[in-house]
Amino acid sequence: MNSFYVTTPIYYVNAKPHLGHAYTTILADTVNRFHLLLQERTYFLTGTDEHGDKIVQAAADNNQDPQSYVDAISAQFQELWPQLGIATDQFIRTTQERHKQTVQRFLQLVYDNGDIYFGEYGGYYCFGCERFYTEKELADGLCPDHLKKPEYIQEANYFFRMSSYQDWLREYIQDNPDFIQPSQYRNEVLAMLREPMDDLCISRPKSRLTWGIELPFDSRYVTYVWFDALINYISALDWPSGEKFAAFWPFAHHVVAKDILKPHAIFWPTMLKAAGLQPYKGLRVHGYWKVDEAKMSKSLGNVVEPLSMRTKYGLDGFRYFLMREMHFGHDGSFTEPALVNRFNADLANDLGNLFNRSLAMTHKYFQGAVPECGPLCPEDREVLDLGHKAVEAYIDHFQSFQVAQALEAFWEFVRGMNRYIDAMAPWGLNKEGNSERLQTVMAVVLASLRRIALAVWPVMPDAGEKLLQQLGQDPDPKQADLRAEGRDWTMLAPGTRVAKTSNLFPRQELDMDRSKGDEDWAGKQAASRKAARKAKDVREAKEPAEIEFPDFQKLDLRVGTVVQAEPVPKADKLLKLQVDIGEDEPRQIVAGLAQDFSPAEVQGRQVVVVANLKARKMRGVTSQGMVLAVHDVQGLRLLGPEEAVQAGSRVS
Ligand code: MSP
Repeated sequence: MNSFYVTTPIYYVNAKPHLGHAYTTILADTVNRFHLLLQERTYFLTGTDEHGDKIVQAAADNNQDPQSYVDAISAQFQELWPQLGIATDQFIRTTQERHKQTVQRFLQLVYDNGDIYFGEYGGYYCFGCERFYTEKELADGLCPDHLKKPEYIQEANYFFRMSSYQDWLREYIQDNPDFIQPSQYRNEVLAMLREPMDDLCISRPKSRLTWGIELPFDSRYVTYVWFDALINYISALDWPSGEKFAAFWPFAHHVVAKDILKPHAIFWPTMLKAAGLQPYKGLRVHGYWKVDEAKMSKSLGNVVEPLSMRTKYGLDGFRYFLMREMHFGHDGSFTEPALVNRFNADLANDLGNLFNRSLAMTHKYFQGAVPECGPLCPEDREVLDLGHKAVEAYIDHFQSFQVAQALEAFWEFVRGMNRYIDAMAPWGLNKEGNSERLQTVMAVVLASLRRIALAVWPVMPDAGEKLLQQLGQDPDPKQADLRAEGRDWTMLAPGTRVAKTSNLFPRQELDMDRSKGDEDWAGKQAASRKAARKAKDVREAKEPAEIEFPDFQKLDLRVGTVVQAEPVPKADKLLKLQVDIGEDEPRQIVAGLAQDFSPAEVQGRQVVVVANLKARKMRGVTSQGMVLAVHDVQGLRLLGPEEAVQAGSRVS
């Protein structure tokens, strides 16, 4: 059985968790779940990094002693992850006693091997980075990251002979293209390794900092925070002798953003080498989220809180957006309108409709029981083959952490299934009484839905489980082997009962209320379920009854020209229109257009009007007709003639 070990950076506890931390952790969770679907033995680690100057400073700013401060912030991280559907195997804290002991053991080993020496050092120290810079590394005398003038510090310290492993590391990276990915980061690291490299200062004198792990060979010093932090990846596995260590090292995939490339790509492998350990399997480096095109920062007030996004748009939609939008290795742009558009297009429209219509048809034609599959036609084979290819592409992309591409490839199949239903038109087969074909088409559809539910589970665990349940399947996706499922296309057992309706992804509206916290989560969910029940977008389920031509003729449809448009006070969805439909006076019509059109955008437009609809009052304003519009992913579109026609022309 393959072993897969995935880690996130352990986060500094000098700030509350935000979108960036949530992204890395959701990504690791998603990839971990994907490996569970491949029936692998997996281990998923996250945690908090709690030593060093930065933390002491943050505690002081909050008038707290370091221990109480780190306890409080670390708890916030720990409590957040389950609320984002993240299921870790362990949450490690660097202030845990056993981690401290592991760090000391590691230091002693490297010291005994002769790779740590004592020396005098003078250098430019940036407190933000907690590291020394050489003059060459500074940008106009400033720290390149913090743009602050570093302090010149002259002191005696311990050094790790990192430079003696430079050639080994360069060759190792050259020989193992998969070690650091995507390749732009691999190239960046190779470029660093072509320049002369200094040894790494790994101690801080207690006269300057006491909040750290004491060196086992000199009690006047504590360990440099990065040296301490990186060791978390093996101390969590109980190195050197634990069962976990035996099972999961060296199968580690470290997921990090580009900001901490150097410590992971250079410090950590050389540290492992010096301690006689094998290098980790892979470093997977992602880009940065920007918010509304700017860097996320407290001072700009644009820090995105993960729980607030969950409250507004639901956990599945938030996770899906993060995974679908950020192309691995590149920066991503987080905006709420983009999230809503993505949700409505991919989830409400493609996936949601597919499930809704399929379940509804199963009830309409087979009383909710999965039908028996008859002989397959070329069209059935074609769509099953599309699914097979989609699963393969999905697996390939996921293996290299390209989750956005995996989803993109998979959605070809989701859309393909919708097209298949449109083309096979089960409602037509039903009308013709072609029951054998109807059964086969629906059996193919329902079997495909199962693969879809499995494949969305790593990204949207909640939805994936519910979708499986709706199909009458075991809700634990780990029962299924995705790779085998992709090949075999076994049909669902005939007679399995499916749910009447799915409704997991009601269309979302943009909600720019920044004050949204977690409190109204339950209320919002209840409201969205209610909205879902009311939703009119269940295409097939709402297939209208057949009518005779004279029924159609009862409608007085006419083209009208909007001569005036204005908002309706206290009704944010409505516009009051005066529409010329060829009568003496324009008709007054109240229409629900205000969220998609300004009055100016409507004025002058030609629209189709139902002219003989009984007048009724809306928000106290009389409406003498109705304007026809169509709702799709992009929002609302007005129906009108291709070219201008005389106002009042009949539509027939
Ligand atoms: N404590 C160190 C890591 C030690 S690992 C042995 C640290 N902590 S951190 O709190 O600053 O976390 C940095 C990480 O948070 C990034 O590498 C990334 O995973 C995540 N992100 C923080 N802001 C981010 C964005 N704006 N966008 C994407 N990820 C971001 O560095």
